[in-house]
Amino acid sequence: MEVVIVPDAKAGGELIAGAVADLIGRKPEALIGVITGSTPLPIYQALAERVRAGSVDVSKARFAQLDEYVGLPADHPESYRSVLRRECLEPLGVGLDAFIGPDGTATDVQAAADSYDRALVEAGGADLQLLGIGTDGHIGFNEPCSSLASRTRIKTLTEQTRVDNARFFGGDIDAVPHHVLTQGIGTILSARHLVLLATGEQKADAVAAAVEGPVAAVCPGSALQLHPHVTVVVDEAAASKLKLAGYFRHAYDNKPEWQGI
Ligand code: GLP
Repeated sequence: MEVVIVPDAKAGGELIAGAVADLIGRKPEALIGVITGSTPLPIYQALAERVRAGSVDVSKARFAQLDEYVGLPADHPESYRSVLRRECLEPLGVGLDAFIGPDGTATDVQAAADSYDRALVEAGGADLQLLGIGTDGHIGFNEPCSSLASRTRIKTLTEQTRVDNARFFGGDIDAVPHHVLTQGIGTILSARHLVLLATGEQKADAVAAAVEGPVAAVCPGSALQLHPHVTVVVDEAAASKLKLAGYFRHAYDNKPEWQGI
C-alpha cells in the first residue's frame, strides 16, 4: 500500500484527478468508481478543470456508483445518484448513459444488489475505484464487521454513520435512512486500482487503523491491505496518527517519476 501525505485537500484532489486523467488517457473507456461525501469534492473540481481546459476527454469514460441509500426516491437531492449527478457527472459533462448504480428504490432490494454486482462484473470491473473512509473505518457503506469477502448487498448503518451524515439532511438524524445498498468489500477489492482520500483530523484514527492496524473486519478499511494496488492519499491532519509517516514521506519523495500513483 502506498501512502501519500499531501499538504491539504486541494493537493489531494489534484493528485487523484491527475491519476484519473492519466488512466483515461491510456484507456478512454475506463470505468471509474465514484463516491459521495465531502472528501471527494476537490477531486471532481480538479478533474472538471482539466475537462474544461481540454487536457482530458471523458466522453468515452464510464462511471459506477459505490453505494446508495435504500428507500430515498431516486430524485431526492440526497440520494447518492442525485449527489453524484450534481457533484461529479454534470461538472464533467457526463450523461447518465455513461453511469451505472444500484437501485435503492427497488422493492426487492437483494435482487437489486445482485443485479448491480453483476452489472459491474459485466462492465469489466472498475479500473480505478475512488474511496473515502468513515470515522468508524467503513469503506462504501461496509460498516464494522462486514465480511471481507462481501459482494453488493443491503447493510444497516451504525448510529455513528447516521450522526455523521445527518449534516446532509439539515442536521435531522431521523431523516437519514437506516438501510443502504453498498458494493461489498470483495466487490471493491475486484477493482484494479483503489485510491482512498481522507482529509481532516476526524479521520486520523480510522486511517491509522486501516493502514497500520491488523487486517480485521472490525475496520473495513483495513481490507485494502489485501489489494496489490492501493494508494491512500491523506492530508497532514488525517496522517497525524500514522507511526510510519516518516517512511511514507521518504518513499514518495524518492519514487521514480515514471511510476505515477
Ligand atoms: C459516507 C459514504 C462513504 C464515504 C464516507 C465518508 O457515509 N458512504 O462512501 O467515504 O461516508 O464521507 P465524508 O467524505 O463526507 O467524510
